[in-house]
Amino acid sequence: MCGIVGCVGFDNAGLFLLDGLKRLEYRGYDSAGISIISPDGTIDTVKSVGKIAALENALATQPLRGSAGIGHTRWATHGAPSTQNAHPHLSCDGRIAVVHNGIIENYQTLRDNLLRAGHSFVSQTDTEVIVHLIEEYYDGTDPLAALQTATAQLEGAYSLAVLFADHPHHIYATRKDSPLAICATPEGCLLASDAIPLVPYTDKVCYLADCEIAELAADGTYKCFAATGALVEPCLSCIEWDAEDIELDEFSEYMLKEIHEQPIRIQSLIASHVRDRAIYFSEDEIPSAFLADVQHITIVACGTSYHAGLFARELMEAWLGIRVDVEIASEYRYRTPVVDAHTLVLAISQSGETADTLAAVRLARSRGATVVGLTNVPGSRITRECDHIVFIQAGIEISVAATKSFTAQLTVLSLISLYMAQMRGALPEDENARLLSELAQVPEQMADILTDTSEVERVSKLLVDKHSIIYVGRGISNITCREGALKLKEISYIHAEAYAAGEIKHGPIALVDAETPVVALAVNGKTLPKTVSNIREVQARNALVVVVSTVGNDDISGIVDAVLWVPRIAEEFSCLTASVPLQLLAYHIAKGKGCNVDQPRNLAKSVTVE
Ligand code: M6R
Repeated sequence: MCGIVGCVGFDNAGLFLLDGLKRLEYRGYDSAGISIISPDGTIDTVKSVGKIAALENALATQPLRGSAGIGHTRWATHGAPSTQNAHPHLSCDGRIAVVHNGIIENYQTLRDNLLRAGHSFVSQTDTEVIVHLIEEYYDGTDPLAALQTATAQLEGAYSLAVLFADHPHHIYATRKDSPLAICATPEGCLLASDAIPLVPYTDKVCYLADCEIAELAADGTYKCFAATGALVEPCLSCIEWDAEDIELDEFSEYMLKEIHEQPIRIQSLIASHVRDRAIYFSEDEIPSAFLADVQHITIVACGTSYHAGLFARELMEAWLGIRVDVEIASEYRYRTPVVDAHTLVLAISQSGETADTLAAVRLARSRGATVVGLTNVPGSRITRECDHIVFIQAGIEISVAATKSFTAQLTVLSLISLYMAQMRGALPEDENARLLSELAQVPEQMADILTDTSEVERVSKLLVDKHSIIYVGRGISNITCREGALKLKEISYIHAEAYAAGEIKHGPIALVDAETPVVALAVNGKTLPKTVSNIREVQARNALVVVVSTVGNDDISGIVDAVLWVPRIAEEFSCLTASVPLQLLAYHIAKGKGCNVDQPRNLAKSVTVE
């Protein structure tokens, strides 16, 4: 989604703005721009379509100077990606500039009114109404009053940064249903859509509350005001990441770095919840008294996080004997779900900002459910909307394609399932202990898989020029396949679909031919012989078959085109280990096709709009 940065007080605002926009690139965007108040008091703006590099080039020929500025990466919603539609947008007199993340739902009505009042528009965006509305209410002296009156008319979601040419020593910010972080430094103040651009400058940020307005000053102080205009005490949060976390180190892409981080992240995640061979969650994370009472579990999530939810259902139903529904949040939010005070809702969101998941959380809570949010991002919106929060502790994930956050979600969900089994006495103690010790093997097994990735790279060459790839697996492996197929389509643009292996002969097998390869998950488990039969069925239709299988299943290598081996582990946890070769396969295929692995087309890391 769009990314916003702003700064005031720095000698050269442009340096922070460009650097900040680069650090927000992972959110996904198609154009970018910055505005700076120049030393002679005008607002100067440069915008460009495409990557930040294009903006950098434009700035090289038209440098902007000044100490107060705002910047934006735009992910088009209203109006095509174009220089005209890129932010910042300016008032008619060019003395106010606005950048915006979100969607203004009543923009057409506002636009019609503003046109009647004599404002002229140059873009097709919803955002442009905001700057004209502020202009309409600005009396030439009081930016805060203008912002208050203007934002009170906005329906929808927004985070805004605003420049007033008359106030070169301040920038202004506000938000509703869209994130915004601000911070003070000895040199001045900064703001951004998330904490990542701020990490090199501070370890404490203030996440603005809904409808709060902030006035950031060049002297390195800021004030926050409630929508009523009353001064409010800013609420500070510590950033738990440091500057090194956002470096690429020896890796060429963040996705590769993040894939390789998995063993260490999973290991410390497990360690943080295990004491004296028992699993532990604090009362802030999961209320222990409520666990005994849970009669029904609903999981809401989108994309990869939804796949993590499907995984949790397998474990929870098997280990706890509780009915679990897994719901796509964008559907759930418009249904009439049956939940009550005995329902535990797990809301899974890496970013903690996904609009649909947040709406699902609100709906479930309004109907009496207790909601536990699982997220990777401290300070994210979900942390303020749920009853309880469990952090998945994957560290900053910058690549749009989720990798380490997926396996961290699986790990936390495994731990929560075992914890619930422990608290409810749902499994014999020795079975709980056996499962925990199997889970503890995951980091080492992942490290093993990552030691030599040459076979995945070789196999990727067999698949790189294909137009469609079918993934098949049963049970837990069906979930591994769904996530593997999502990774492939996201970053390589090859059509990929996952099917339950037993289901392909009910339709999808019609797609199989010599040009449509099949990636099959054949790890150890109760349905392995059935999956092998399904593999033979697609082979009989001339498909090229790549299998992910457990070391020791030697028979399989004789019957397929390539095997990616994974170590033996309890079937439940094979999703964690077998996902690694599938992540690598997607990565190498995308690289082989020359795709931008970290920033795939059309996608955004945090989907903050519907
Ligand atoms: O931040 P969230 O986990 O709520 O995001 C949900 C999806 O947008 C996300 O998982 C998406 O599918 C990823 N790009 C997958 O790689």
